[in-house]
Amino acid sequence: MPFGTDSRYLIEAVGLGKVYQRGNEKVVALRNVSLSVESGEFAVIIGPSGSGKSTLLHILGGIDRPSTGELHATGVDLVAASDATLTRFRRDNIGFVFQFYNLLPSFNALDNVILPLLAKGMGWKASRARGEAILEQVGLDHRQKHTPGQLSGGEQQRVAIARAMVLEPCFILADEPTGDLDSASANSIIALMMDLNKRLGVTFIVATHNLNLLKVASRSYELVDGRLKTAPTG
Ligand SMILES: Nc1ncnc2c1ncn2[C@@H]1O[C@H](COP(=O)(O)OP(=O)(O)OP(=O)(O)O)[C@@H](O)[C@H]1O
Ligand SMILES: [Mg+2]
Repeated sequence: MPFGTDSRYLIEAVGLGKVYQRGNEKVVALRNVSLSVESGEFAVIIGPSGSGKSTLLHILGGIDRPSTGELHATGVDLVAASDATLTRFRRDNIGFVFQFYNLLPSFNALDNVILPLLAKGMGWKASRARGEAILEQVGLDHRQKHTPGQLSGGEQQRVAIARAMVLEPCFILADEPTGDLDSASANSIIALMMDLNKRLGVTFIVATHNLNLLKVASRSYELVDGRLKTAPTG
């Protein structure tokens, strides 16, 4: 079967390498990384700071391009894709969740969640209805009108997860989603992601320092100095 045509996999990557050029210096961030992710998985990538986790997530999400290797995601060849195709790929297929939530501070929770729908041209009423339903799925239907400054860190991350889900992406990439939270809030965000994965079938790829995530992963990897290996089980 030709590479990238196996419909079992949302993501197939073989031999990914990434070299950053910093002045005269070359920084090798990824070396010969191969991985596959199926729909419905909860994949977790651990590894020390600087090991390449964010670099890998950015490449899988079409934010950045690999220097070498092959990569297909949702049937799109991300190495050959034009910039316009990458932009469309990101918008239509991926939800992103970041360590510091990246919510718009002057918009309330519901408006933050529905912005991607409005930007895509969905009407106001339908967008609101969908946003309210998603906020309910993340346990925040009682906080719709609160701005990020009026929400706890854990609640802000719930809003960010709702926003990532609102366009029904093929998968969600989460970079240190619990990194800014105390351990109780972190555990509740882990429980939420697990619940969305099990109940709604949302596929997650999570980069983290939080070893509790290894316990719930369907597939786990460790990055060490840009090389990917199977992680020791949590
Ligand atoms: N734009 C860039 N230009 C040059 N080097 C970079 C760039 N981005 C990342 N790097 C380097 O690539 C390596 C991997 O960085 P990356 O951010 O992927 O690590 P990480 O595992 O996400 O770390 P952390 O756990 O601290 O978030 C690091 O050595 C980093 O300094
Ligand atoms: Mg990082």
